[in-house]
Amino acid sequence: MSETAQLKIGDKTYDLPVIEGTENEKALDISKLRDLTGYITLDIGYKNTGATKSAITFLDGEQGILKYRGYPIEQLAEKSTFIEVAYLLIYGKLPTTEQLDKFQFEINRHTLVHEDMKKFFDGFPSKSHPMGQLSSLIGALAAFNPESLEPGLSAEIVDLEIHKLIAKMSTIVSWIYKKSLGHPVNYPKNKFDYVTNFMYMTFSQPTEQYEINPVVISAMNKLLILHADHEQNCSASTVRIVGSSDANLYASISAGISALWGPLHGGANQAVIEMLEQIKEDGGDTDKWINKAKDKNDPFRLMGFGHRVYKNFDPRAKIIKKACDDILENLGVQDEVLEIAKRLEEVALKDPYFVERKLYPNVDFYSGIIYRALGFPTDMFTVLFALGRLPGWIAQWKEMKENKEPIGRPRQIYTGATDLDYNDISSR
Ligand code: CMC
Repeated sequence: MSETAQLKIGDKTYDLPVIEGTENEKALDISKLRDLTGYITLDIGYKNTGATKSAITFLDGEQGILKYRGYPIEQLAEKSTFIEVAYLLIYGKLPTTEQLDKFQFEINRHTLVHEDMKKFFDGFPSKSHPMGQLSSLIGALAAFNPESLEPGLSAEIVDLEIHKLIAKMSTIVSWIYKKSLGHPVNYPKNKFDYVTNFMYMTFSQPTEQYEINPVVISAMNKLLILHADHEQNCSASTVRIVGSSDANLYASISAGISALWGPLHGGANQAVIEMLEQIKEDGGDTDKWINKAKDKNDPFRLMGFGHRVYKNFDPRAKIIKKACDDILENLGVQDEVLEIAKRLEEVALKDPYFVERKLYPNVDFYSGIIYRALGFPTDMFTVLFALGRLPGWIAQWKEMKENKEPIGRPRQIYTGATDLDYNDISSR
């Protein structure tokens, strides 16, 4: 017999079905609660609320486990490529050689961005934040792909939009970087794989021969894989909820990019490097900054520390820390902020404030140091997070559509004024 939980309100008892996932996590199904009892549940910030059932990503915050479609992140980061992981997340299975070649081919066919998009792009001030540009440009793609606006799209059209979006996102990200330097944009070279093409468009100059460094391409693949999905976080939930209104894929992803921008989410990777730079300029006294983070009267938080779900360690941070050491050594980069980062981590991991609150370095603590070593400016970091997260957002959007989920519409407990009578402005 399936498990149920009992809820007692006054003298009445209600049975709530228990839902169990494939990794044995359990949930109380309260979907009929209001109909049965007149009550709703209240969970501000959704700390305890499952918004959906999903077969894409599993994470166990207590044990520091992260799996995409059942595969451990450690194995994927070590052995796979970003484009293969994108296929896995979106279509549910690791591809055969033929499937992977076709996927890469279909994406490559769409790497050019409509030249009229450059008119929007040229309108941005050259120093405007890359995330604002990215969110607007991805939203604008809907205007160039009107077939995406029809509700009830066929599977072929959905696939077409997925290929276009993955392809054009990397071209647009490279444009944004080029614009920040005042350099001409590069057109894609479709003989390259996805990550190499992105790095080529971003870093090649018309004046020089572009040298492909396999160490750099491999580090970039790893970083993008580690960011590719993270189940129902702020931006993925945004993508699902926007998509649930039947808004098109571009609009949904553009909303996800906006959600990612905030420093409590994807924007943390930029905030980490800015914080480390600030500590460096302040003389490198890590104890002083740890004390600031602990001081309840000081709004400062140790950026790159803590996570809503990981309360033991962030498995992505472990992999990234090692990759960071490897790439800096390989490129021969000496970075003082890395030393400060290591000192901060060492002190914080022993400090009772951080230990008691289970605050550990998260994925963003080291990713920025790698991006810096690869030559990206700080305000591009969150855009790179978005490039990595794109397949995850697409997979979440597609799953939500395939499961025919209803429009997302939370309820509330009203706490405002009641029964006021309108009085004329002259008497207020
Ligand atoms: N520095 C100092 N204190 C902290 C920090 C921090 N980074 N993070 C949490 N705390 C304290 C917080 O003040 C609170 O203390 P108290 O119980 O005394 O009031 C306690 O720890 C719990 O914090 P919370 O804000 O209730 O925890 P949360 O689960 O709501 O927030 C978080 C998670 C990631 C927003 C938060 O830890 C944070 O702001 N971290 C810094 C920003 C950051 O690195 N974000 C990237 C997250 S990983 C990338 C991604 O997946 O988006």
